[in-house]
Amino acid sequence: AQIPRSAHLLIIVFLSLLLPLCESNQILIKGGTVVNAHHREVADVYIEDGIIAAVQKNIMVGDGVKIIDATGKYVMPGGIDPHTHLAMEFMGTETIDDFFSGQAAALAGGTTMHIDFVIPVNGSLSAGYEAYVKKAERSAMDYGFHMAITKWDETVSREMEVMVKENGINSFKFFMAYKGSLMISDELLLEGFKKCKSLGALAMVHAENGDAVFEGQKRMIELGITGPEGHALSRPPVLEGEATSRAIRLAGFVNTPLYVVHVMSIDAMGEIAKARKSGQKVIGETVVSALVLNDSVLWDSDFQTAAKYVMSPPIRAPGHGKALQGALSTGVLQLVGTDHCTFNSTQKAMGIDDFRKIPNGVNGINIFQSASGQLSVTDFVRVTSTECARIFNIYPRKGAILVGSDADIIILNPNSSFEITANTHHYRTDTNVYEGRGGKGKVEVTIAGGRIVWEKDELNAVPGSGKYVKMAPFNYMFEGLERADAEYLSSLRAPVTRRAMHTT
Ligand code: URP
Ligand code: ZN
Ligand code: ZN
Ligand code: ZN
Repeated sequence: AQIPRSAHLLIIVFLSLLLPLCESNQILIKGGTVVNAHHREVADVYIEDGIIAAVQKNIMVGDGVKIIDATGKYVMPGGIDPHTHLAMEFMGTETIDDFFSGQAAALAGGTTMHIDFVIPVNGSLSAGYEAYVKKAERSAMDYGFHMAITKWDETVSREMEVMVKENGINSFKFFMAYKGSLMISDELLLEGFKKCKSLGALAMVHAENGDAVFEGQKRMIELGITGPEGHALSRPPVLEGEATSRAIRLAGFVNTPLYVVHVMSIDAMGEIAKARKSGQKVIGETVVSALVLNDSVLWDSDFQTAAKYVMSPPIRAPGHGKALQGALSTGVLQLVGTDHCTFNSTQKAMGIDDFRKIPNGVNGINIFQSASGQLSVTDFVRVTSTECARIFNIYPRKGAILVGSDADIIILNPNSSFEITANTHHYRTDTNVYEGRGGKGKVEVTIAGGRIVWEKDELNAVPGSGKYVKMAPFNYMFEGLERADAEYLSSLRAPVTRRAMHTT
């Protein structure tokens, strides 16, 4: 028999009132290997009221404290996904996972915080922000916001200031692709970069040459290539490399830090590597799909199978993934996100006759484990949690197992296996681009905000329990910028001074 929807709601409300009461506020995780990005050691972790109260050997506690035995397991900071799109209106539809369903899946996979992209409403940042505050009301884990900038005028410039100073947003994304919708010009990019710099906010770019992509799409349609493979063929790596290089050079010209989102190709990664080597402040974020998938799937003869892999920039030919894995493990790229942006089969079918109409995006919010590859456990924590916390200025509240940090913790069993399937992924989508994948290293327990939300394969996500995390501007990347600015200015003034002396 079906339970009526209203009864469902009542049960949820009842449980969310009851759970905090019957659950212990105190948890002791015993005997695990505590893994931070900088260090690992065998120690107990004691949690009280959502905060880590002690990390040391042989902690003794009284009755009423919930004890979890973590012997032989890793106790790590929960994943922080820097890149998600929950309930986003995009390409004529809306992503099917909302804040609650996306976060529930995330918690089951060991992610305890994510940063979602607020899309302005008709260019208005404040309207976009208000809409996302509403969307996030039923959050079951902590979250933060980036914000996209899709047009430029005095109002947008003023609103950016409000977002940073009042609303806790410290990063803005500029789309160099999606011509005709989100794409912006180089002129706007420069205005935006200057404003970001003055506010201490991080400029982020979706780096693909949107004009050239448009041209590539026309070419494919003219050639009669209308299927999902046309998506990959119309926007090759060279267009990602070009835009990455352009964004890096323009950010260098303005002397502001840059964050390149979803690096999918060797071409883009190479540009980031070169810039960092020259001393420029550039961060590269890659995506789990880029690390573990390749573009052969886009040639699948079944439209639905191929369409579910359509995302931008596209999943690349074999070889790119291996190179990106190497770049991530050696620090050439700093962190990994999932770009979780899900559509079900009916939504993907909007592009059955024309790949340009397939909504772009793949799932992933719960699969940080797949990023592990050849990483050491400390490096795994660095790229899935700590680095993100540092970049967005919330370290060590997040991204570490230290006294005083938020109790966002996972217990990972390196000897237990996990498998990813659409039947168990907790998303709203009917497909999963990681179907059948798995391996060693199962997240057995997830603790979010001091509450056990995932244990024994059971999910206890509580709507409304997640908190909005305000993020302060001027992260570590802004240190020393004024020195470079002063050097630049004095280099300009030198010849003027000489001329003045000459005339007297
Ligand atoms: O295909 C993608 N990546 N969809 C989400 C929007 C974006 O560009 O990040
Ligand atoms: Zn993007
Ligand atoms: Zn994205
Ligand atoms: Zn003279």
